[in-house]
Amino acid sequence: MLDRSPTGINYRPPAPEPPATRLGLIEIIRTLRRNPLECWSAEFFREPVAMIRLPFARAFLVHDPAAIKRVLLDNADNYRKDPIQRRILSSGIADGLLSVEGSRWEVQRRSLAPLFAKRTVASFTEAMLTAAHELAEKWSRFDDGAVVDAAAEMTMLTLNVLALTIFSDGIGGDFEEFREAMNAYFGVIGRIGALDLFGAPEFVPRPGRARLRRTMSYFERIIDEIVETRRRRLACSADTAPNDLLTLLLRALDPSTGQPMSLAEVRSNILTFLSAGHETTANSLAWTIFLLSQAPEWRMRVREEAERELSGPAAGLPDRLVVTRAVVEEALRLYPPIAALSRMSERPDRLGSHEVGARSLIVIAPYVLHRHKRLWDRPDVFDPARFLPPARSEVPRFAYLPFGAGPRTCIGSSFALQEATIVLAMLMRRFDLELLPGTRVWPLQRITLRPAHGLPMRITRGPN
Ligand code: HEM
Repeated sequence: MLDRSPTGINYRPPAPEPPATRLGLIEIIRTLRRNPLECWSAEFFREPVAMIRLPFARAFLVHDPAAIKRVLLDNADNYRKDPIQRRILSSGIADGLLSVEGSRWEVQRRSLAPLFAKRTVASFTEAMLTAAHELAEKWSRFDDGAVVDAAAEMTMLTLNVLALTIFSDGIGGDFEEFREAMNAYFGVIGRIGALDLFGAPEFVPRPGRARLRRTMSYFERIIDEIVETRRRRLACSADTAPNDLLTLLLRALDPSTGQPMSLAEVRSNILTFLSAGHETTANSLAWTIFLLSQAPEWRMRVREEAERELSGPAAGLPDRLVVTRAVVEEALRLYPPIAALSRMSERPDRLGSHEVGARSLIVIAPYVLHRHKRLWDRPDVFDPARFLPPARSEVPRFAYLPFGAGPRTCIGSSFALQEATIVLAMLMRRFDLELLPGTRVWPLQRITLRPAHGLPMRITRGPN
């Protein structure tokens, strides 16, 4: 399946071969449990909009930029997040931005927007450089040729970046315990089962619920302590309090009413940032590292850019890493961490040539969209040049959705892109990462799209 070329120019990274015909219901149920990515048959990569009948509703699979714009932007009020997506992406976090709807969502989005504005995100450059530098130092203590699981390393790194940017004075407890709880959380949420496909209501018990409750009460306790400590600090000496996301969150006010967030909202949003920003960014980094290991020409270009730009000032660094960012964007195209989005229609609508009834399930899969035959030239080939200027400006907005689009687009997209670009540049400058021979790399969709068997890589120190 790997189509190698010595320069990496025609490299086709591993992906399931779409079945020639649609799967039957039983097969869909089995495949969704094993790896939802393998459900997409060839027709979906050709058709703009397709309809399938589920036991409880009709589902429309929408991969036409104009129809997507209608769902996510122009008629977005008609398309609410559906229970499956909410259960998969934000299980147990009821009051955070990812889960709330209607006026509660509007208030939160307005209050939280300044936390992720370009200037604020730029102020996190140092924290991101620090986390990347710590990892590089750790790797440089290994013997040349040591093997690491790059996917697991990226998961640790992105949690460290979030910890440094959310609560920069530490979590006050055992960070290892916190990390394990995060892993336990991701281990429980994220599988689509038959209960979901048959539309079973939320109160019907799903596997792992008790474990999820235990993990959530651990998070509540730890986060409430951190918030309480920070509140006291802000009250006593506001000037010396760290300028991180927690301080910004506690100071965030609804611009129309001047009201701060409740404790439940603060807690839920910390957890939301941790869960929404952690595995997503880690997997985008892991896939980028993998793709570069197969494409020596691009690896060289990233290294040259990193050598030149990392020796300059930290201010403006992310904007100068143009090639590195193009490689990250191409990895997000081929392996979008959120491989599918879904919505439920409230009222009838028309999408392309299809009449969509009320309470229809709408699925927009960035994974399919990004490899759609009508939209991309050589869609299965790794080619970061698509994202270099001036070609970048020709990528249609609604054909490329790693971060979604419209009012509910990812609030952390600049944060994630900046982090991935900085970390990649730092690691590529200092190390050669080579996939352990014999490793089968395969995309598996579990909440996020990750390498199924991790990413064992041999690290060698580079020239710097
Ligand atoms: C490569 C990394 C990331 C990817 C691929 C990603 C992807 C997405 C996508 C596709 C959505 C929209 C979901 C929908 O429309 O149904 C979303 C929403 C969201 N993301 Fe991200 N995300 C990433 C990183 C982050 C980071 C770093 C944070 C915060 C620290 C974050 C916080 C959020 C939040 C809070 C929402 C909900 C926004 C709303 O509903 O208003 N994400 N993300």
